Amino acid sequence: MRPARPAVLVARHIFPEISARLAAHFDVEANDQPVDWPRDELLRRLQGKAGAFISSTEPIDAALLDACPGLRALCTMTVGYNNIDVAACTARGVVVTNAPDVLTETTADFGFALMMATARRITESEHFLRAGRWQRWSYDMFVGADVHGATLGILGMGRIGQAIARRGALGFGMPVIYHNRSRLAPEVEAPLGARWVEKAELLRHADHLVIVVPYSASSHHAIGAAELALMKPSATLTNIARGGVVDDAALAVALAERRIAAAGLDVFEGEPQVHPALLNLPNVVLTPHIASATAATRMKMALLAADNLIAVLGGKPPLTPVN
Ligand code: 8YV
Repeated sequence: MRPARPAVLVARHIFPEISARLAAHFDVEANDQPVDWPRDELLRRLQGKAGAFISSTEPIDAALLDACPGLRALCTMTVGYNNIDVAACTARGVVVTNAPDVLTETTADFGFALMMATARRITESEHFLRAGRWQRWSYDMFVGADVHGATLGILGMGRIGQAIARRGALGFGMPVIYHNRSRLAPEVEAPLGARWVEKAELLRHADHLVIVVPYSASSHHAIGAAELALMKPSATLTNIARGGVVDDAALAVALAERRIAAAGLDVFEGEPQVHPALLNLPNVVLTPHIASATAATRMKMALLAADNLIAVLGGKPPLTPVN
């Protein structure tokens, strides 16, 4: 008789290759529809499972863990894990893994692209063209702000922040300033030409501010009305971190009143809902949380989560542990 295999849940609709890879090791129950399971359904399907493949949209808290005592591993295909109560997992012996590194360059490409689209008013001008409003050339039609040579400000200088800094410094000749809880080692700062500054100085001096700080209680509304008031009226703000790091309502007011020039947002408070005031503003570029969305990178992220699940439930150390 075949020895009993651990049961795992693939809570997200994902590449068929991933479910197939897991099926070689586990009894797999997979979400084969592009729908998010409500909490009670997730909880019901987690019964009897030793592990789960998840993403950043499944909230994992102590009550859920208590209702699923068989769980030993939770592997998210995302780098961010603010949806998971890691302390509660640790207290119950549940291993948590995330997916760092594999998405760094892809996400930095997108952050830079969103910042450029924001500075150069690309979506606003495209909407104008598509609406048939382009009648003539004018010297001031959609004039924006230069990216090259402008001061790049980065809030949150982890792997993705550093990759954005590298693009700005080496590709676009941008002086880079950053704020982070801890200062980078001089040998990491030097090739990026990056200079640590206080948060207020970052906000006052950045021409293009890119937010890449992970979401936590301490980064909630790290950018609100008071912070926006410190920024230059010509500055842009790009958020590829998490909704909730920026106070979207305060940002909408600052954009409407032109207290900053423009914003590029890939993440939103309460997404997939978007603050209605943002939807009506011309000076904001909005994308639906796609910074890591290339086919190759999404596959790498999913593979890493699957391999973490295989390692942990196979009694081996996790590849990219969070706890
Ligand atoms: C995901 C992300 O696409 O990895 C992360 O933390 O934000 C993205 O790569 C997103 O979490 C999907 O909801």
